Amino acid sequence: MILLDGKQYSKKLKEALKIKATQLIETNKVTPGLAIVLVGNNPASQIYVRNKIKDAAFCNIYAELFLEDENISQEKLVKLVQKLNKDDRFHGIIVQLPLPKGLDEQAIIDTIDEAKDVDGFGTINKGKLFCGMKAMESATPKGIIKLLDEYKINLTGMNACVVGRSNIVGKPMALMLLNKNATVTICHSKTKDLGTITKRADLLIVAVGKDRFIKADMVKEGAVVVDVGTNRIDGKLYGDVDFAEVAPKTSYITPVPGGVGPLTICTLLENTLIAYENILKTKKGE
Ligand SMILES: NC(=O)c1ccc[n+]([C@@H]2O[C@H](COP(=O)([O-])OP(=O)(O)OC[C@H]3O[C@@H](n4cnc5c(N)ncnc54)[C@H](OP(=O)(O)O)[C@@H]3O)[C@@H](O)[C@H]2O)c1
Repeated sequence: MILLDGKQYSKKLKEALKIKATQLIETNKVTPGLAIVLVGNNPASQIYVRNKIKDAAFCNIYAELFLEDENISQEKLVKLVQKLNKDDRFHGIIVQLPLPKGLDEQAIIDTIDEAKDVDGFGTINKGKLFCGMKAMESATPKGIIKLLDEYKINLTGMNACVVGRSNIVGKPMALMLLNKNATVTICHSKTKDLGTITKRADLLIVAVGKDRFIKADMVKEGAVVVDVGTNRIDGKLYGDVDFAEVAPKTSYITPVPGGVGPLTICTLLENTLIAYENILKTKKGE
C-alpha cells in the first residue's frame, strides 16, 4: 500500500505557486488578489479561512477577509459581491460556505463574476464542466485529480465509484473523472446495496461526511481509495474510510488528515492565478 501524501504534495505545489506568482507580479506589476467573504462565526469556517489567508500570503497572493455579521441580509451580501466584482485588486472571490440559514447560497455564489469564481461553485462554471468545456474547477475535486496525476494513476478506462453527490464535491468529482475517461458510478444515501457497488471499483472516492463509514468488506483488493471526509470526533479528525482496516487492502490510499484537505487550498490559489492571467489577458485585449 502506498500513501497518497497530500501534505507533501501540497508543499511542492505551494512552492511552485509562489514562484509563479512572483514572476507574474514582476511581469505585470499587479499583485494577484483574492477576496474572501466570511459570514458569521462558524468555527470550522474560521479555521479554513485563516489557513487560506496564511497560504495565500506564503504564495505572494494578496488575500483580504470581508467579515460580515451573521444577520446580514441577502441584498447587502449581493451588493458586497457586486462591489468586489468591480474591484480590480481582486482576481478571485470566494464566499465561504455554509452561509447562515435564510441566505440563498446559490444566488449569492452566482453573483460572483464567472471570471472571478475561483471556487468554481457558480452555475456557469459548473455547467461548463458538465459540457466538458474549459471551466474554473472546484478546488477539492481538482486537487484529487492532481494528486492522482502526481502518483501517475492513469484514469482512462478505470472503473471509478464516487460516494456522495453534493454540488461541491461528489458531482464535480464524477464529472472530472468522466472527462478523464474513467467509467463512473455515483452513489448516494438512497443507493441500494452500496457495498456491492463500491467493491467493484478500481478507484473509490468517498465524500459522505460519516466517520469511518467505508469498511474493508466494501473495498476491492488493490483498489485506489480517496477519502474526502473530515469528521471531528473528540477533537480528533477521522475520514469517511476506516483507514486502519481498509488501508492494507488498497494499492494507494489518502490518509486523513494529510490527504485531500491540504490540496484544496492549493488548487484554490492555483485557480486565483488562472483567474488573474485570464483577467489581465482580457484587459490587454489578447
Ligand atoms: N478535505 C476537504 O478539503 C473537504 C472539502 C469539502 C468537503 N469535505 C468533507 O467531505 C465530506 C462530504 O462533504 P459534502 O459537502 O460533499 O457533504 P454533503 O453535502 O453533506 O453530501 C454528502 C453526500 O453523502 C451522501 N450520503 C449520506 N449518507 C450516505 C450513505 N449512508 N450512503 C451513501 N451516501 C450517503 C449524501 O447523499 P444524498 O445526496 O442522497 O443526501 C450526499 O450526497 C464532509 O465530511 C466534508 O467535511 C472535505
